[in-house]
Formats: sequence, C-alpha cells, structure tokens
Amino acid sequence: MPVPKTFTLNNGIEFPTVGLGTYRSKPGEVEEAVKTAIDAGYRHFDCAWFYGNEHEIGQAIHSKICSGVIKRKDVFIGSKLWNNFHARSAVVPKLKESLEAFRLDYLDLYLVHWPMGFKEDAPLAPKENVQEAFSDVDYLETWQGMEDAYKLGLVKSIGLSNFNAEQVDRICKNCTITPTINQVECNPNINQKKLIKFCRERGVLLMGFCPLGRSEYSGRPGFPEPTIYDPKVQEIGKKYNKTGAQVVLNYEVNNLGIFVIPKSVTPSRIKENIDIFDFELNDEEVAYLDSCDKNKRVCPANDWKDHKYFSFNAEF
Ligand SMILES: NC(=O)c1ccc[n+]([C@@H]2O[C@H](COP(=O)([O-])OP(=O)(O)OC[C@H]3O[C@@H](n4cnc5c(N)ncnc54)[C@H](OP(=O)(O)O)[C@@H]3O)[C@@H](O)[C@H]2O)c1
Repeated sequence: MPVPKTFTLNNGIEFPTVGLGTYRSKPGEVEEAVKTAIDAGYRHFDCAWFYGNEHEIGQAIHSKICSGVIKRKDVFIGSKLWNNFHARSAVVPKLKESLEAFRLDYLDLYLVHWPMGFKEDAPLAPKENVQEAFSDVDYLETWQGMEDAYKLGLVKSIGLSNFNAEQVDRICKNCTITPTINQVECNPNINQKKLIKFCRERGVLLMGFCPLGRSEYSGRPGFPEPTIYDPKVQEIGKKYNKTGAQVVLNYEVNNLGIFVIPKSVTPSRIKENIDIFDFELNDEEVAYLDSCDKNKRVCPANDWKDHKYFSFNAEF
C-alpha cells in the first residue's frame, strides 16, 4: 500500500497528511519558508493566532495564488483559537481577526488550541500568579463558538488540540458537530497509540505536533532525545537512502496513521520533510520505532498544571 498523501476527515474533506508547522517561524523567515514549501509540494499549513505570524503566511500564500502556482481551493490552512478567548462570544471575532491577517475569507481548519482557558485580559502565556490568569470557561462553551464559526461558513472543518481522551469524549457527547481532528504532541517518544485509537473510534483523526521531537532540544536536560538522531533510526534510513527525520515522519503517517506538521524554515529540510512517500518500513523496523515510546513530552505545559481543565494528568 502506498504511503497515504491525504486522510479523509469525518466531513468528507481530503486533507494532506504532511503540513508545514509554523510555530517560532519568525516574521522575515516564515514567508520564504511557506513559498519554498509550496514549491516543494506542501498544500497544508499549520498556523495559530498565538504564533503571531499569520500575516506573513497569508502574504506568501497570496503571492503564490497571484502568480498562478496554486489556487485557493488547493491549499489547506489551519489556525487555532488562543486560550484567552474561550468565551463563546469571542470565538467568531477572533477567527475573523485571523482571516483578516491571512487575507482569506475562510479557513480550512480551526482548532481550540488548549482545553484550558485564560481570562481575556491575562497574559497570553502566564508563568506567574497563574491561578489569577485562569478562567473557568468550560471548553464545551468554546466548542459552541466553534460551531457558530462553522455554521457561518468561516471555516470548513473544526477541531481540538491538546485534549485528552475524556475531554474528546465529553465534546463528542455534547456537540452538534463532531470535531474532525485532535492535534497533540506525537512522535516515537510519545506515540499516542491509545489516544489515536480512542479518537478514531469517535471519528476524530489525530494530527501530530513536534513530529520530529523538536530537534533543536537535542541534548537539553529534562527533554527526551529526538528519535530522528537515534543511531538505529539513522541506520534504518541509510537502507532507504533517507534521513532519520524522513524515517520518523514516514512511520508516523504510514504506521501510526496520523497527520504530521514538521516545522522548518530551512529550504533543504522543508524539501526533505515532504519527501517521505516512496518507501515503507518493514515489521521489524516498525517494531523498533514502536519500542521507542516512553510517554515523554517536549511540551508538558507544566505552568498550567493546576488548571481545572489541564489535560496531561490523565493516562492519555
Ligand atoms: N497545538 C499545539 O499546542 C502545538 C504545540 C507545538 C507545536 N505545534 C505545531 O506543530 C509544529 C511542529 O512542532 P515543533 O515546531 O514544535 O517541532 P518539530 O517540527 O518536531 O521540530 C522543529 C525543529 O526541527 C528542526 N527540523 C526541521 N526539519 C528537520 C530535519 N529534517 N532534520 C533535523 N531537524 C529538523 C527545525 O529547525 P529549522 O526550522 O531551523 O529547520 C526546528 O528546530 C509547530 O511548528 C506548530 O505548527 C502545535
């Protein structure tokens, strides 16, 4: 079976399995990165209001539409609602703000970035006096706002991010529109097999962030070593004339069955990360990658662990 280039969402939309991540892609770098990615064949971009670079990403997309390289309908642009705007009444206005930054009239995907809400006037990423920053807006209310946005035609698909199994289930049991996607950290160090299965049983597909294990954290105390640098993974890569990163991304799409959104602003890596469709790992190689799981996160969000909707204290 060929490695899938798209997965079909529960609303029938075919969504590209590999997208470009854009967190910490700086203004000044990200526009070129998106243009390089479009030329390399990417048609899916993972963005967020919180990343502060939607405007530049929109510039790159417009320039490629204007020069006739792509049509709007061929690209899939996802963004996310930040935690300070969880009130139902805030969702549509924040989405409209993102649309304005992108200069688009609809998004392809809009996600609730985290289940934990903050007060609207609190810092965006509180680290001190966090209890004062937290709001107790229920994410079910936030989801109603997401459904409003969908019904207005401002977004083609809506979904979640960083929700644990119990929270996904609670949404599914109380919604009128089932989420299409739950975007969570997923790489061989935390392969999320239980959450993938749980979500799939409810029609929700998993999208993996930090699919490369955030390679710049290599050697950083307290963080798991990215498996793209594991000697055995590199050895597997040599057999297929691929890098460790390509082996890991191939495993995630083809064997875990998830979307991946590797971030890069480096042209050679942008091209490398989408060149993963022409090989298949054998059972022994897949078993080795499966064995790397240690349920360890690069993004533990510890500052927010006392929030009533903190999602990472559940088993999965
Ligand atoms: N929903 C959420 O809460 C959430 C949280 C985190 C991330 N995300 C999304 O997921 C995306 C990916 O996660 P991430 O950026 O944290 O981590 P990642 O994609 O696992 O790793 C990105 C790092 O790997 C480097 N890199 C890229 N390709 C490489 C390759 N082939 N070989 C070696 N290193 C490579 C990049 O460097 P260069 O750019 O310098 O090439 C960057 O330092 C984000 O950009 C964002 O869109 C979502």
